[in-house]
Amino acid sequence: MTGFTAPKGTFDLLPPASELVLAVRAAMSAPLVNAGYGYIETPVFEETALFERGVGESSDVVSKEMYSFVTRGDDHVTLRPEGTAGVVRAAIQHRLYAGQLPVKLWYSGSFFRYERPQAGRYRHFSQVGAEALGVDDPLLDAELIALAMQAYASLGLSRVRLLLNTLGCRECRPVYRAALQDFLRGLDLDEETRRRVEINPLRVLDDKRESVQKQLSGAPVGRDFLDDACREHYDAVRAALSSLGVSWEEAPRLVRGLDYYTRTTFEFQHDGLGAQSAVGGGGRYDGLSEDIGGPSMPGVGWALGVDRTILALQSEDVSLAEASGVQVFAVPLGFEAKQRLLVVVDALRRKGIRADLVFGDRGLKGAMKAADRSGAALTIVAGERDLSDGNVQVKDMATAAQEAVAIDDVVDHIEKRLQQ
Ligand code: HAM
Repeated sequence: MTGFTAPKGTFDLLPPASELVLAVRAAMSAPLVNAGYGYIETPVFEETALFERGVGESSDVVSKEMYSFVTRGDDHVTLRPEGTAGVVRAAIQHRLYAGQLPVKLWYSGSFFRYERPQAGRYRHFSQVGAEALGVDDPLLDAELIALAMQAYASLGLSRVRLLLNTLGCRECRPVYRAALQDFLRGLDLDEETRRRVEINPLRVLDDKRESVQKQLSGAPVGRDFLDDACREHYDAVRAALSSLGVSWEEAPRLVRGLDYYTRTTFEFQHDGLGAQSAVGGGGRYDGLSEDIGGPSMPGVGWALGVDRTILALQSEDVSLAEASGVQVFAVPLGFEAKQRLLVVVDALRRKGIRADLVFGDRGLKGAMKAADRSGAALTIVAGERDLSDGNVQVKDMATAAQEAVAIDDVVDHIEKRLQQ
């Protein structure tokens, strides 16, 4: 039999690299928890229609990238390509809008898009996201953006740029849309792009091809069409960002890949990543709840890509303090020693010290190699002679200095040594 491998566009996360993923997720969620966001978990698959109506049938994500299937029970379901639609669905289902507002939620998990895999673009990827529902306060937009910037800063990233835009609302955007369509219809575009002009003209602004970009320099800009309420909202977001010390770049052409956005939209980009430079993104989606059959419930949120953030850390050469690995490694010589040291290791773990011991029957050489590889600061070695004296040897792995310690005192001894 030939061996199986992880499907195309996916990868396995193995220690020690997987520790970095946990650390990144923790750093992304910490500012949210501090700001009163509660954890939510929704299913990794939802009814296909939720994404069609929520994310939008004309978006690439829905029209080209969904993992959709019909179940044995004839249900049409899709592996979630993003988190917002599911969170809003849950908020409607559980009537969260009837309680304290805003409803502040965060999540972390796996998402699936059938994309062409490349560096930073996978078919199975990981996001940490946040959504604030039920209030259309521009200061919430600013709060969320500032929390994301805090997360990136706490990871030690210094090259994350915030791109900011506003898309207007469902009243003023149609006017802009019509003006943009008029402009685009006059350009030299291929047939597929012409079709896009009719269905989703804003997406044309996002066309990466130079032949298209070249023609867009005179395109009408959305913010010239904002109504008063949208302009005031955007001004308030910017004023709040300034007072929070967050700097941004105006990005009037920034179009997000999902159709639910209204008003504020933003993306976090990192220059070290090549084509897939967005490490996170989000915005306001004041009509999404109604689109999926819910009550009026404005919302704003973002999702940060864990995988791309790790690539960004690598490109900036940031190594996170290793919280991984063990602090103490035990090397028993013989079965009786192993039984005794398992008890010592268990006592260390109960004190919150990360400890491990050699399992299986390895010789002293192999066991010491394992101790070396474990990254532990201290190793406990015990042979039969030590034990009959009531002792173990504690070895400092950095200096190789070794001392005999009474086995009954070794837990206290190690605890003190690690505190120094
Ligand atoms: P998004 O921009 O589609 O937004 O995704 C957010 C982030 O997820 C991206 O910036 C990127 O870092 C990461 N990401 C997306 N697709 C991939 C992929 N194929 N491989 C690796 N990483 C990827 C959303 O998903 C919205 N739900 C964000 C949001 C929340 N808006 C409002 N609330």
